[in-house]
Amino acid sequence: MSNLAYDTTNASAAAIDREAAAMQELRPVPRISIQAFCETEGVSAPIERAGADRRMAKAHLKTHMGGIQTAIDFYQSAPTPNLIILESRNEPKGLLENLRQLSEFCDPSTKVVVIGHYNDVALYRELIRNGVSEYMVAPVSMADIIAVISTLFVDPEAEPIGKSIAFIGAKGGVGSSTIAHNVAWTMSNIFSSEVVIADLDLPFGTANINFDQDPAQGIAEAVFAPERIDEVYLDRLLAQCAERLSLLAAPSTLDRVYDFDADAFSMIIETAQRSAPLVVLDVPHLWTGWSKNTLAQADEIVITATPELANLRNCKNIVDLLKKLRPNDAPPRLIINQAGVPKRTEISVSDFSQPLGLTPMAVIPFDPVLFGNAANNGRMLGEMDAKNPAVGMLNEVAHILTGRAEIKSKAKPGLTSLIEKFRPKKSK
Ligand SMILES: Nc1ncnc2c1ncn2[C@@H]1O[C@H](COP(=O)(O)OP(=O)(O)OP(=O)(O)O)[C@@H](O)[C@H]1O
Ligand SMILES: [Mg+2]
Repeated sequence: MSNLAYDTTNASAAAIDREAAAMQELRPVPRISIQAFCETEGVSAPIERAGADRRMAKAHLKTHMGGIQTAIDFYQSAPTPNLIILESRNEPKGLLENLRQLSEFCDPSTKVVVIGHYNDVALYRELIRNGVSEYMVAPVSMADIIAVISTLFVDPEAEPIGKSIAFIGAKGGVGSSTIAHNVAWTMSNIFSSEVVIADLDLPFGTANINFDQDPAQGIAEAVFAPERIDEVYLDRLLAQCAERLSLLAAPSTLDRVYDFDADAFSMIIETAQRSAPLVVLDVPHLWTGWSKNTLAQADEIVITATPELANLRNCKNIVDLLKKLRPNDAPPRLIINQAGVPKRTEISVSDFSQPLGLTPMAVIPFDPVLFGNAANNGRMLGEMDAKNPAVGMLNEVAHILTGRAEIKSKAKPGLTSLIEKFRPKKSK
């Protein structure tokens, strides 16, 4: 009896040691959202334990009971997270059918891990062929769960998880930063996704004002100490603006000058991309080696312009240059902002878009009351007036930039009427 008790303790101590040794190697998991749908406690328990591990402190993990059917019901009305873990006791054919149904509600960027109860190589191959990232056979341990998440999101060989979206104005003062901040806030809010904003306008950046933040440290510390940059250091420089939104703030002071090498921000941006699924870059209206490089390397580029000739000329130059720099990428996105300034001569939306070969994602009206109140109170537009049409347009932009929606051609009637509204703009 005592021998048996001794053996059991020894065996479980050995298992814990093995688990600890396996975990030792694993690096912290970035700010991703994970939802698990389980059918048995044998699987939900290790997932819950994994969620409480220090390596998962930055990730948001939620476990539901109910398996794939619950997930299908759930995602009919909710956005899918970065990772879904699904347990299924179903036989292979049924499991594949369930997954096919779920895929209709899954964002393309969401990864799926399946924990099944059939040790079947043909099933494994079929699942991987259908885009499932990993198939594990129950029982699984906490270390297995963290290991699979690490392989998908931390592995240095793996692609950085974060999508970078660079915002630049076709001219100074067109509202590029305001739009970048509001789109970032919207993405973190409606998709429950972690977003990092980097304010690259070091002398004059306004993200700190717009988010009512005054952090002691920010992007300047990182750019002047490139040898120190890693995820842990970056974390210390981030200011929390909202539940899932953090800011790498500009100092917005002039006590030093800001001349940078062409690749000065590359490391910071790449590190941010390893730590959050969405990285918004507020690029000032400048043409330097580093601003050009930042655009050249971004996953998406959004040009904000007001409907005037100098903006159109600059936009055309940026679009043409990006085509040369990024021949295998989609063209940048266009937002027309401050449309309909009273008594201002404006170029119509179609005349502006046509030479660029771009359809604007949004045509945002000039609304000095809404934008002025938001800016002066350090609040986002959606916090000031969630029902304002401009807020609806920024929601749409957030959907398009995260691949959740296309630029709708059926939105054209709305656009056209808006264009018509702003057409007679010749000043008298
Ligand atoms: N649609 C709009 N209607 C009214 N005011 C707006 C609109 N969009 C932006 N603004 C205001 O225009 C001003 C300039 O905006 P912002 O700083 O975002 O522009 P920017 O393009 O980033 O400028 P900079 O070249 O200085 O970086 C701000 O006061 C902002 O509140
Ligand atoms: Mg700006």
